[in-house]
Amino acid sequence: MMNERMNAKQRAGFKAVEFVEDGMIVGLGTGSTAFWMVERLGARVRAGMRVRGVPTSRRTEEQARSLGIPLVTFAEVQELDLAIDGADEIGPGLALIKGGGGALLREKLVAAAARRFVVVADAGKKVEVLGKFPLPVEVVPFAWEVTARRVAAVTSAEPIVRRADDGGIYATDNGNYILDCRCGEIRDAERMERELKMLTGVVECGLFVGVADLAVVATDDDVEVIISQK
Ligand code: A5P
Repeated sequence: MMNERMNAKQRAGFKAVEFVEDGMIVGLGTGSTAFWMVERLGARVRAGMRVRGVPTSRRTEEQARSLGIPLVTFAEVQELDLAIDGADEIGPGLALIKGGGGALLREKLVAAAARRFVVVADAGKKVEVLGKFPLPVEVVPFAWEVTARRVAAVTSAEPIVRRADDGGIYATDNGNYILDCRCGEIRDAERMERELKMLTGVVECGLFVGVADLAVVATDDDVEVIISQK
């Protein structure tokens, strides 16, 4: 497999599937790296592996269905063996920024329900300090302008409401809006996450602190597995 020609995202996604064992219930992440993990898992299923997946977005749900990966919902299972998902930034201690693809709420719910959370990314996602990538904050549509001012106070950023391709406000799979916040440097991610979640109108933020157990980080030539010290 290591001789296959692959780009970094594909390499990371494929490698992470090595952590999936027969019979597992697996959280299926969203994004262009998780895409490859789902593709590989589909190939494993076609080869006879028995797994069931919980998708983190409609997009991933469609992909998994098209590959024949059996899916379950939280009505049927409340605990997953493993979840595998991408990240926009990976900081020290495997603290993450996620949500560039807009799926942060479902991604965090799935990660929290999983016994083990594996993050997959290309090496360009590794940073010394989180915050260069705009932090996504999911808010309810009602009074989002008011919520945005409160979010600004916590993040020291000027939140920008995310737009869809047609220029209208982008709505998440949950019918909410996303405020993208250019924070600069997030020195205390745990505190920022806590403060954001205290705000009425905020549903979730893209900071994942103390969630990841493992990171599979790849370049076009190599792959590294980083184990969290948590
Ligand atoms: C989706 O909402 C995100 O959290 C993605 O996992 C994240 O944006 C990484 O995406 P890529 O793998 O496409 O870079």
